[in-house]
Amino acid sequence: MKLTILGGGGFRVPLVYGALLTDRGEGRVTEVVLHDLDAGRLSAVGRVLTEQAAGVADAPTVTTTTDLDEALRGADFIFSAIRVGGLEGRANDERVALDEGVLGQETVGAGGIAYGLRTVPVAVDIARRVARLAPDAWVINFTNPAGLVTEAMSRHLGDRVIGICDSPVGLGRRIARVLGANPNEAWIDYVGLNHLGWVRGLKIAGRDELPRLLADPDLLGSFEEGKLFGVDWLQSLGAIPNEYLHYYYFNREAVRAYQQAEKTRGAFLADQQARFYEEMRRADAAALTAWDRTRAEREATYMSENRETAGAGERDADDLSGGYEKVALALMRAIARDERTTLILNVRNQGTLSVLDTDAVIEVPCLVDANGAHPVSVAPLPDHATGLVCSVKAVEREVLAAAESGARATAVKAFALHPLVDSVGVARRLVEGYTSVHPGLAYLK
Ligand code: G6P
Ligand code: MN
Repeated sequence: MKLTILGGGGFRVPLVYGALLTDRGEGRVTEVVLHDLDAGRLSAVGRVLTEQAAGVADAPTVTTTTDLDEALRGADFIFSAIRVGGLEGRANDERVALDEGVLGQETVGAGGIAYGLRTVPVAVDIARRVARLAPDAWVINFTNPAGLVTEAMSRHLGDRVIGICDSPVGLGRRIARVLGANPNEAWIDYVGLNHLGWVRGLKIAGRDELPRLLADPDLLGSFEEGKLFGVDWLQSLGAIPNEYLHYYYFNREAVRAYQQAEKTRGAFLADQQARFYEEMRRADAAALTAWDRTRAEREATYMSENRETAGAGERDADDLSGGYEKVALALMRAIARDERTTLILNVRNQGTLSVLDTDAVIEVPCLVDANGAHPVSVAPLPDHATGLVCSVKAVEREVLAAAESGARATAVKAFALHPLVDSVGVARRLVEGYTSVHPGLAYLK
């Protein structure tokens, strides 16, 4: 089985390859093709993979290419994990927004819109090529903003593109853990959009244990979301929000902390990653060790400003391993081997949330088998959550429309309608600012 990874020179590729190395099962991946625009990044990551595979019998073969069409032909699965504009682009997404006093973050608010406007045209081009060159392949989209990008690709690939994120699984795992339950045996009632969802229940052996957690302040304050949002707010909500909702519920504090930070997350990672890729150019570099050190630092500092404003302290050691690769592999296995499983994924709504149309991509538990991922039916969201989900989906639709038409006015509309952008004037200046720093937005006329 052939797996192609787009963004194959990306820093997280060794996580995926490490997971593949542990898979001994029938129908496993035997061939990995890494595609990237940058040959230097490909060779850096290739070195890490070579060290990972040392001594492993039947390790999947790895080849690298900068030719997209060649990478796509014959692929059974395609992981799309690209970063249009690189981490410098991410840093600019943050900076322009923060200078206007609004949130700059890669997936939420103004920063997420800018990143979406830059990424959608590229993702659509990839989707079109996949439809032509590898029409039977399954595409697993890792690229952020994951819900929006998956929806853009689904217009060309239908349900053969599935978006993934590790945050809902991580959240479910933490809740199960504090309740003393096995995360693998828990049914998580989670729904929303990517980075905009809520856990409303967690069933163990058919019994909802979430009320027990919400009623116990000590237990509730003992894990990441309890520390981030505070016990009182979680009790008021009667649900546990995805950590990215911190940017909505504590927007002022988050914006202020990001403005005051010495470096934005994007700028920090741009420097950190540049050092890693530079180090990989040295012939004597210990590739795997350097990669692992860099990864550990990246994970330890994830959302550190948010945690600081909330006084949440360091991350729990159990939360440090993201888990993207586990979700992606579980999904790929369920499809390839027709092993029925349930995963929280980004798929087309198909009537799951009645307030959204059929084609809107949402994040929801899905039943997965050889026929793909199918959302299960869930209870409707409460009004406050429906309001946010509908507003943000409307913004995503404006982003898709702007990417398709190239209309600058539509891009302004996308920013202006976002609940975290508080003035049409700000939206206009954001479009000015973003188009002046990002060559990838030159298409907006
Ligand atoms: C979480 C999110 C991802 C995001 C990742 C990286 O896992 O769900 O969407 O890519 O964090 O964060 P970082 O700031 O390290 O790039
Ligand atoms: Mn995510």
